[in-house]
Amino acid sequence: MHQLPRKYSFNEIRVDLDIVYFTTMINNLLSNAVKYSDREPEINVEGFVKDGRVSVSVSDNGIGISKSDQRHIFDKFYRAQTGNIHKFKGLGLGLYYVKRIAQAHGGDVTVSSKTGRGSTFTITIPY
Ligand SMILES: Nc1ncnc2c1ncn2[C@@H]1O[C@H](COP(=O)(O)OP(=O)(O)O)[C@@H](O)[C@H]1O
Ligand SMILES: [Mg+2]
Repeated sequence: MHQLPRKYSFNEIRVDLDIVYFTTMINNLLSNAVKYSDREPEINVEGFVKDGRVSVSVSDNGIGISKSDQRHIFDKFYRAQTGNIHKFKGLGLGLYYVKRIAQAHGGDVTVSSKTGRGSTFTITIPY
């Protein structure tokens, strides 16, 4: 953790967060949503509470991620081979850190995506 986690309120629910790292996670997901797009990006951010956990999801209408790449995108330095790799520059570290940070909060991050349709990343943290 970057600093001692503090309580942050989502309506009446209070969650322990390291706000610097939490912000880093959201920024990584938002910049990917803008970056991995081949048209005017449409991005939705939603927050919800279920089963003792708070979730934040970031959805885009970008290029999407194949099922086989979905298995690896959270690995350190992994980048999907899009066939036009130079169009999207990066280090392949963003999602690795998103996963690490979510897990450091006792939570996780998951992806749901379809090639050509877009992607949804959901961070879930227990409270
Ligand atoms: N929103 C997204 N839409 C499509 N592909 C994505 C998205 N986010 C991540 N990816 C894929 O996952 C890979 C890993 O992402 P990330 O760890 O952020 O590294 P980077 O953006 O530096 O390549 C990316 O190279 C890309 O192939
Ligand atoms: Mg990235």
